[in-house]
Amino acid sequence: MSANLNQTNIEIDDPNFRAVFQNLQGNILKGHGRDHSRHIFFAFKGDSDQNQQVLNKLAEKVTSAEAQHQQQSSYKQTGQAHLFVNLMLSCSGYQQLGIAPKDWPDDPAFRAGMKDLQTPFDTLPRGGHTPTANPLNDDISQWESGFQGRIDGMLLLALGGMAPDHAERTLTAEVQALQQTYDDNLELLFVQRGHVMRNDKGQVIEHFGFVDGVSNPKFLFSDLNEEFRNGGYSRNDPSAPLNLVLVKDPGGNPDSYGSYVVYRKLQQNIKGFWDRLALLANHLSENSSSPIDAEYAGALCVGRFKDGTPVSEQGNDGWSNLFNNFSYDDDADGLRCPFHAHTRKTNPRGDTVRQFNSPPTIERSRRIVRRGISYGETELSPEQEWTDAGLLFMCMQASIVDQFIFMQHTWCNNAGFVRPGTGIDPLVGQAPADAAPPPQQWRSGWSNPNASTTDFSFAGFVKTQGGEYFFMPSLDFLQSL
Ligand code: HEM
Repeated sequence: MSANLNQTNIEIDDPNFRAVFQNLQGNILKGHGRDHSRHIFFAFKGDSDQNQQVLNKLAEKVTSAEAQHQQQSSYKQTGQAHLFVNLMLSCSGYQQLGIAPKDWPDDPAFRAGMKDLQTPFDTLPRGGHTPTANPLNDDISQWESGFQGRIDGMLLLALGGMAPDHAERTLTAEVQALQQTYDDNLELLFVQRGHVMRNDKGQVIEHFGFVDGVSNPKFLFSDLNEEFRNGGYSRNDPSAPLNLVLVKDPGGNPDSYGSYVVYRKLQQNIKGFWDRLALLANHLSENSSSPIDAEYAGALCVGRFKDGTPVSEQGNDGWSNLFNNFSYDDDADGLRCPFHAHTRKTNPRGDTVRQFNSPPTIERSRRIVRRGISYGETELSPEQEWTDAGLLFMCMQASIVDQFIFMQHTWCNNAGFVRPGTGIDPLVGQAPADAAPPPQQWRSGWSNPNASTTDFSFAGFVKTQGGEYFFMPSLDFLQSL
């Protein structure tokens, strides 16, 4: 009997899901939690038989969901750190294995690949969208050269729970060992190096300085319970059924599931972002009785203050916990948190229900599972723009088309979402290369219907350097090759 993917609030040691979690890769239902990582992009070198053998051997290193859980328990008891490994394949990877197209994971975007500008939007199962080429508005000519070539797969190695230098040295040695072992069979194209950044409270932050990784769907009951530390879940239910992120692995046995992975290297212009926020704050101050600072303007951009306080809940920062128990029900007109704010664009928490009478289940089905990590310099106030710093964005989902692409294309990049005149997401919205981003509207007062508004264009401080769509197959599939 196959597992019921509609189920929510299960536990990792639920006997009904044992076979599934032994076969499922880790880092999908729950983040691996390590602070240091390497993303090793590779291309196969051999014929299909040789490529299958290599993958079969690599499968020995991969960490299952069950093993991840055991490693976590052992770390708590003994303090012993464990290397974590994920393995994912692009569509060209499946081709190089000699697998027939009918047996490839069937998401149309996965099959086209991120570089393919013709991702068939007219095949969107939920319909209602104008067929469009280049749904993400990517300018691939500007991508790093490694991402412009063929990528067959990616190995993710992660390590934590030890001194940062030690973890970094160990990961470097692991990459070298892989290179030596697989030199005849795999071309290691390039390696991205990720590291978690933290504020003085130890909370995870991204390069603009905002706490990150607060809001994510929760599949396991124990993780849902952790939400009580973030204010509970009476106004926002983060629980999610397994089918938000899992699909049947076409290459595995009845208990084999996998997940689609979107990978994007997003460079952040930290100085440009904060300089522009200061300018925006000046404009807003001109129409306000009290001065408005860049920190407040930043909250209008992100939807949360740097310390995580949601701007829909309070007009200033200062909450000590990472509050997530909120919706926009009390802010239906966007007087507190603008409709364009990054968190509101990417998780409208009821806006589509209010605006379009769309069932809440549809909005909730767009959610993605974020598992990204920062890369590059850790200087949060650089003197130069476009330093080598940003986010190795990674998300998992059951459908790339209906979740990530929908979110980026139909919400973030769409100036008319959720209302005409909203503007694009000031953080990650991408206007078409030949069009200037239309301005967003910014209010000079919090929760004040009489506050004046300013038109101001805020965009372009996150630049896509490349990416790919992958499928993270079951262990059973990898072992069967
Ligand atoms: C939330 C930053 C890219 C989707 C957040 C938060 C921050 C942030 C600070 C609030 C903290 C939290 O709730 O975890 C960034 C930065 C990005 C980036 C700096 C690029 C460099 C993206 C992209 C997407 C995305 C490309 C998808 C298209 C989300 C989602 C949330 C979120 C779904 C949670 C919203 C909620 O549930 O309230 N991001 N993000 N982010 N971001 Fe991003």
